Amino acid sequence: MLKIGALVSGGGTNLEAIINSTENGSVPNAKVVTVISSKEGTYALERAKKHNINGVCIKKTDFSDFDQYMQAMIDHLESFEVDLVVLAGFMTVIGEKFLEKYKDRIINIHPSLIPSFCGNGFYGIKVHEAALEKGVKVTGATVHFVNEETDGGPIILQKVVYIEENDTAQSLQQRVMEEAEWKIFPEAIKLISEGKIEVVGNKVRRKN
Ligand code: GRF
Repeated sequence: MLKIGALVSGGGTNLEAIINSTENGSVPNAKVVTVISSKEGTYALERAKKHNINGVCIKKTDFSDFDQYMQAMIDHLESFEVDLVVLAGFMTVIGEKFLEKYKDRIINIHPSLIPSFCGNGFYGIKVHEAALEKGVKVTGATVHFVNEETDGGPIILQKVVYIEENDTAQSLQQRVMEEAEWKIFPEAIKLISEGKIEVVGNKVRRKN
C-alpha cells in the first residue's frame, strides 16, 4: 500500500478527487494517511476530517527559520511512514532538505501544459489569464515530479483541455480542474502505486 501525505493550502478539490479514487477502488493500492495544511482552517482540512484522515496545520510563521519548518514537515510525514508526497494546491516552495529526503517521491499538479504558462509567478487564476491573453487554443494540466526548478521536474501525465470562444479565466480554471486535474492526478498516483513508471534523467519512463 502506497502511503500518501498530501500538502494543501486551500479548497482541496484535488485532494478530494485523490481520496475518492482510493476509496472507490479506482486507485486500490494507495491511501492518503495524512494531510498537512499550510494555513489554519482550510477547507482541505475539513475534507480530510470528513474522510477520517489525519489533518494538521504546519505554518511557516511558527518557525524561526525555513529549515526548521521543512524539518517539522519531514518529521510529521515520517511519523506516518509516508511513501509519496502529493502537493495538492500547496502554495509554498519546497526547500532543499525536503527535496533531498523525498527525491522522486514528490508530485505536483499544475493547471497548464508545461512548459507553457508555468514557473515563477504562474499560479492559480494567473495561469488561465495568461493562456487567454496569449490566445492559445488548447491548455490543460500536468502532473510532474517536483525538483528544485519550479514546475520543472519530470512530467508524468498531461491532459489537454480545449479553450472555448467565450471562456473567462474562471470558467477555464473550472474546466481544467474538472476535465483534466481531477482525472490525471489520481491516474498518476495509480501508476506510481503499481510501480509502472521510473525517472530516468529528466524524463519519466513507463516500465514494461
Ligand atoms: C489547482 O488548480 C492546482 O492546479 C493548483 O492549485 C489548485 C488547487 O485547487 N496547483 P484545489 O485546492 O485542489 O481545489
